[in-house]
Amino acid sequence: MQVAVAIVLRETGGAGVLRQENVEVGRPGPEELRIRQTAIGINFHDAYVRSGLYRTLALPGIPGIEAAGVIEEIGSGVAGFSIGDRIAYVTAQYGAYASHRLLPAQLAVRLPSWMDDDMAATVPLKGLTAEMLVRQVHRVRPGDVILVHAAAGGVGRLVCQWASHLGATVIGTVGSPAKAELAHAAGCAHTILYRQESFVERVREITGGQGVNAAYDSVGKDTFLGSLECLAVRGHLVNFGQSSGSVEPFQVSRLAPKSGSLTRPGIFHYVGQRALLEEMAAALFDVLAAGVLHVQAARPFPLVAAAQAHEVLESRERMTPLLLKPQE
Ligand SMILES: NC(=O)c1ccc[n+]([C@@H]2O[C@H](COP(=O)([O-])OP(=O)(O)OC[C@H]3O[C@@H](n4cnc5c(N)ncnc54)[C@H](OP(=O)(O)O)[C@@H]3O)[C@@H](O)[C@H]2O)c1
Repeated sequence: MQVAVAIVLRETGGAGVLRQENVEVGRPGPEELRIRQTAIGINFHDAYVRSGLYRTLALPGIPGIEAAGVIEEIGSGVAGFSIGDRIAYVTAQYGAYASHRLLPAQLAVRLPSWMDDDMAATVPLKGLTAEMLVRQVHRVRPGDVILVHAAAGGVGRLVCQWASHLGATVIGTVGSPAKAELAHAAGCAHTILYRQESFVERVREITGGQGVNAAYDSVGKDTFLGSLECLAVRGHLVNFGQSSGSVEPFQVSRLAPKSGSLTRPGIFHYVGQRALLEEMAAALFDVLAAGVLHVQAARPFPLVAAAQAHEVLESRERMTPLLLKPQE
């Protein structure tokens, strides 16, 4: 029996509830792989699970939705993978905060040789989310004007890079001048310091009163209604997160004055479908290989220091991705 080192959540709460334990990992079922994990991505989703905002992990349970690793054992019904293959995954089937795990084979994506494990553990969720946003949910076209909140953030920066490459004019909101520089380097034609000035007024000025074709809003509570105001006629508000808190209920009739549309996409409904996952991953790897997307090196923490990593995750000043290393 393989014994894994894992972070086990027994109660929800502050970062201190993330504690290390030894757990047993069984043999893979017919459709499963056993993975030795080399790097584990840390995401806001994990903090929402830990705090209890998302009640999606049965306790006690191992959190974590994204990692890279090497296949150690293959279930009898799995085709298309070999022992030793390097893979990465994003999944709502928790359990990534561990040195080893079982994984349904249909969730694994084989890694290109040029991608190192640290990148493979921190890019999939944010990169596939960016793909979902600019190619699936609202297909960005040349000439579009789009608004991206938290434009210097992990997902935000990738959306800015990808959308500007697709020919959009990108307006990004950011929390500080240092972040404005990052957003500008990521392709924002205009940056707005939304803690100091009204982004609604600035968007009106920048677009000559026309508004934006799409607003990508991961901030939620603090920005949602303003994002709605920023839309052009037939504009699309894409709310995909709630970094400032959950969006309050609103009346659908508020979309009517501009024939606006609203979506609230979640990445798991996209990567859970094998053909779509393969299409999205191929598109992501292409833009990464072509240098359209530039990703920052992640700051590593040993797996045992997951609590410390979560404290850094939730500080608004953080500007780099974070990851956990099981072998350190
Ligand atoms: N729907 C999906 O499938 C999906 C997938 C991936 C991520 N997400 C969501 O997308 C969001 C962004 O994820 P990320 O990993 O790329 O994070 P991130 O953007 O790197 O970090 C969050 C940023 O939000 C901004 N923010 C605004 N108000 C905040 C507040 N009250 N507290 C903390 N931050 C605040 C901050 O940027 P400024 O200082 O510039 O304001 C902060 O840096 C998260 O809400 C995440 O859950 C959703």
